[in-house]
Amino acid sequence: MTPTRLILLLFTIFSSLHCFSVSSFEYQVGGNRGWFVPPANDTRIYNDWASENRFQVGDTVRFRYKKDSVMEVTEEEYKKCNSSHPSFFSNTGNTVYNLDHSGAFYFVSGVSGHCEKGQRIIIKVMAPEEDYPSHGGTEKSAASRSIVLHSGVFKLAACAQLLASYAASRAFYYVIHFSVN
Ligand SMILES: *[C@@H]1O[C@H](CO)[C@@H](O)[C@H](O)[C@H]1NC(C)=O
Ligand SMILES: *[C@@H]1O[C@H](CO)[C@@H](O)[C@H](O)[C@H]1NC(C)=O
Repeated sequence: MTPTRLILLLFTIFSSLHCFSVSSFEYQVGGNRGWFVPPANDTRIYNDWASENRFQVGDTVRFRYKKDSVMEVTEEEYKKCNSSHPSFFSNTGNTVYNLDHSGAFYFVSGVSGHCEKGQRIIIKVMAPEEDYPSHGGTEKSAASRSIVLHSGVFKLAACAQLLASYAASRAFYYVIHFSVN
């Protein structure tokens, strides 16, 4: 086996591992619209969005925003929109937060008045044992699977990109191969 072939083989193996692992997902908070002050007639958009998703330990949430910020606070602070002592703060415009344990995470905008207008969200992360309902969960798990498939679209896009780059590297290999001979 030539070194080039070996490199291609290793590349393919590593890429496949990455491509087919379904261990974690990244969710963009609020979908394509991102993290912003909701319209006055639609203040529940973030918690509606959260309730449509099934968050698991190890997943990440991405907040995309302009001239705003994101803070993690306690339940009490969330209820009162109290942003004076956040345990996490970011205002980079593109914040990725790792959901590293089960339970509820409370996020608010740190910009004065935005939380009160509905720019806040509760993300409930399931305990690992909730992943595999042992009895009577057929209907529930079928619904959950479709949600997981739905959120796997990002992953599929990544895989498609990967296959394209693999095809490109093969093509490159043949070009080199034939021009040498
Ligand atoms: C909120 O108002 C906008 C325009 O005024 C409208 O297009 C939208 O459908 C409304 N949303 C809800 C949830 O009522
Ligand atoms: C906000 O929360 C902090 C502790 O996190 C507390 O000391 C402060 O009194 C609270 N402010 C209000 C207005 O509730």
